[in-house]
Amino acid sequence: MTNPNKANGLDLRRWLEDIAAMRQVKEVPGADWRLELGAISELNVKKADPMALLFDEIPGYPAGHRVLTCTTSNAVRLANILRLGSVDSHQDLVGKLRGRPNAWKSRAADFPPVEVDDGPVFEHVMSGDEVDVTAFPAPLWHEKDGGRYIGTGCMVVTRDLDTDWVNVGTYRVMIHDRNHVGLDMIPGKHGAIQYDKHVDAGKPFPVAIVLGCDPLGYTISGIEVPYGMCEYNYIGAILGQPVEVVRGQLTGLPIPSAAEIVLEGWAHPGDIKEEGPFGEFHGYYPGKQGTSPVVTIERVYYRSQPILLGSPPAKPPNDYSYSKAVMRSALLMDALQAAGVPDVQSVWAHEIGGARMFNVVSIKQRYAGHSRQAGHLLLNCGVGAYMSRWAVVVDEDIDPSNLQEVMWAVATRADPERDIDVLTRGMGSKNDPMFVTFGTDTAFNSKAVIDACRPYDYLGRFPEVAEASKALQAETRRKWGHVLDE
Ligand SMILES: Cc1cc2nc3c(=O)[nH]c(=O)nc-3n(C[C@H](O)[C@H](O)[C@H](O)COP(=O)(O)O)c2cc1C
Repeated sequence: MTNPNKANGLDLRRWLEDIAAMRQVKEVPGADWRLELGAISELNVKKADPMALLFDEIPGYPAGHRVLTCTTSNAVRLANILRLGSVDSHQDLVGKLRGRPNAWKSRAADFPPVEVDDGPVFEHVMSGDEVDVTAFPAPLWHEKDGGRYIGTGCMVVTRDLDTDWVNVGTYRVMIHDRNHVGLDMIPGKHGAIQYDKHVDAGKPFPVAIVLGCDPLGYTISGIEVPYGMCEYNYIGAILGQPVEVVRGQLTGLPIPSAAEIVLEGWAHPGDIKEEGPFGEFHGYYPGKQGTSPVVTIERVYYRSQPILLGSPPAKPPNDYSYSKAVMRSALLMDALQAAGVPDVQSVWAHEIGGARMFNVVSIKQRYAGHSRQAGHLLLNCGVGAYMSRWAVVVDEDIDPSNLQEVMWAVATRADPERDIDVLTRGMGSKNDPMFVTFGTDTAFNSKAVIDACRPYDYLGRFPEVAEASKALQAETRRKWGHVLDE
């Protein structure tokens, strides 16, 4: 339980104790950082109710140098991470989350991080020639990765050039050598904007990379928090208590006082190197090797027996596709309501589209044009625009998270000629597996709304659904449940 009077250093070990008591974590000794950790984690998250995995006794590393994966991959743990209490199902979690992101956002200003002088993160310090990021068992996650990725479930802390805004984002981090890593921030991401400003001014960019803490950290730094807002504040609003931070000795950047491992250094203007490829969240190794800024690591802080928090992407379902689907669906729901779309019933950002490329909204149609309005906003609101491709709008009798029902509505309520709206030159990504076909070097994409609602102008005449009524279903379940194994 959190103590409302005390700041929270985002201690991963306290969280592990919590979930161990709930039998939600499995210890795995002896797996190799070369592909085995990645493949075990990948197969694990394809199971119906995956456990978190804590790897230890990793060949070539001292016992106790651990790697933790699959932290956010089921409803029970995700609810615990988001401080929503215990839940008994995925639906329970979604219900408890409804409206929370808006409330967290509006309370964030009340929870600035609290600074202290010391914390467990400073138990060990490497500096100068001692710096060696390969001292930690960073996995080679996938067979065709261009290197070992030490940063996946990480938080990258950076500072703006001309304001005191600190941003915390999750961006992948690849090891180049013992004191250099590559940092892949996609253009437009807040860390990338701060980096560009430093490069334009010819100044080194300060970076602190947090490689393990309470998974609430990367769950929030990996999702769209408004521009100019510090993720520590947002996390504080979720916890109901401020995040406790210490200042990095080199850059002064704030880092959680109980973090497991932190790499601190500078990205110098012009210091760019080849990075990737990397198996991605949409399920591909997109394109060839690219380039990204190099961070020269000058300090490493870590706790005894450090735990590296990993969250490897891959073809969905992957390590974080479930949490992304849950979180982005809640954010999209809030965004549609804030944009003034009435009677939105539910939104689901499907894991198959990496919670970006195939999103569905259900509405109770109120007026002509309502469904297209919802679909176009789903594709282009702030949270939804990046890399969105398909927005499907369905009536209130369809559950947006149930692909079988959604595709039944598409098959039976949408007329392809009339009910697909295509937009061109939308916000795309060079990371899109289809980018190779676009014939441009600029990250546009095309997007479509599939309006799979019953046509509004034929509502009165549209055929009725041939399915037992809710009342008949309930009565049948009550009386004949033993036949239905319920
Ligand atoms: C595990 C994980 C890995 C991610 N990797 C990257 C990445 O390598 N580059 C990137 O730009 N975004 C990546 N993202 C998405 C960003 O973290 C996300 O868009 C976030 O909103 C960025 O923070 P910002 O809004 O402060 O820029 C990743 C997200 C997660 C959860």
